[in-house]
Amino acid sequence: MKWPAERIANSSPKSFGMYEKTGQLIARGADLIHLEVGRPSFDTPVHIKEATKRALDDGKVHYGEFPGELKFREALADKLHRDNGIAATPEQIVVTGGLTHSAFAVCMAAVDPGDEVILLEPYYPQHINKVELAGGRIVTAPLDVDNHFSIDAEIIERYITPKTRMLALVNPANPTGRVYSREELQGLAGLAIKHDLLVMSDEVYEQIVFDDKQHISIASLPGMAERTVSMFAFTKGYAMDGWRLGYMAAPAAFISALLKITMNDMSHVNVFIQDGGYAAITATQDCVAQMVAEDQRRRDLLVERLNAMPGVRCALPEGSIYAFPNIQATGLSSQQVAEAILEQTHVVVEAGSFYGDSGEGYLRVCFGSVSYERIEEAMNRLEAFFVDLQHT
Ligand SMILES: Cc1ncc(COP(=O)(O)O)c(C=O)c1O
Repeated sequence: MKWPAERIANSSPKSFGMYEKTGQLIARGADLIHLEVGRPSFDTPVHIKEATKRALDDGKVHYGEFPGELKFREALADKLHRDNGIAATPEQIVVTGGLTHSAFAVCMAAVDPGDEVILLEPYYPQHINKVELAGGRIVTAPLDVDNHFSIDAEIIERYITPKTRMLALVNPANPTGRVYSREELQGLAGLAIKHDLLVMSDEVYEQIVFDDKQHISIASLPGMAERTVSMFAFTKGYAMDGWRLGYMAAPAAFISALLKITMNDMSHVNVFIQDGGYAAITATQDCVAQMVAEDQRRRDLLVERLNAMPGVRCALPEGSIYAFPNIQATGLSSQQVAEAILEQTHVVVEAGSFYGDSGEGYLRVCFGSVSYERIEEAMNRLEAFFVDLQHT
């Protein structure tokens, strides 16, 4: 048999973590509380749906422009300038089918067989296969675990070799909930410039930041626009995960390489969906602010409750929809704890080890995918679990 192709056979098996263990419980009708998936709990705002329906009624059902509709890219350029400090022209923007599609295009367009790509660990696992499918090799460089999972350029530089081609950044970070400071990003930018690396910047959670935190796009730092592909999506901030809509801004000289991938794997994004995206970014952002405020209310409840449980310590997430509590005091591995929680409480959380070795001793708990009341119920169950565990 000559299939599948070697690049498929050689890539890591895809895993969906704890979700894969829920099948039997779902079949038995168990009252599961899903705190493992990063799926927004909100409905897409009405004005976005209305604009999309209007586009269909207006006959926007035919082929469109390969990089995305010009009017939409012009509005995206304004948004990037205003919100991200990125001076991209509409010609430097490609509309995509979500962050996943952008990241795949970047890996295919930038990574040659044998090239190394640095992933900061704990990492977002779904970027691994994209690098491997391009023939590249993932090299994980740990964040500074003892210092709130911060970026320490000195640590990361140890993992750079002559084969390193690209650094992958996720900011705000999944799974740690960190929003990186200007100083941390400058450290990473310094490495990219010194070693002539491309940065693939995943900013899917750009709008979901809390308290007085500010999201900074690494491409806005001096010398970075010409070596960064900044990737955004409507997925999380506008609760449009099922729509599959995103965009990326890249150096002008790299756009034709990116288009070579996107024109071949999907031609272009559905034309009428782009009208929904246009409405999302050009109308008032009150809907985003309301959803983020509710996420913050859920975060505050979750973190306060977790910190009151024996054996659990949880830092306040600065952004994203994930808390990353430390459970080392239990003396058990994160996989053991996550499996025991599932079995005994029917709450689904992810083991920190799913995000690489430096996630061991932690759990990832999503507060963006269920209501405040369900988080309360989940915390009641987890509290009983950790109190019991203390006595065994
Ligand atoms: C860090 C990160 N990047 C990308 C994605 C996927 O985004 P999209 O649905 O737009 O492809 C997710 C979804 O959870 C994510 O957490």
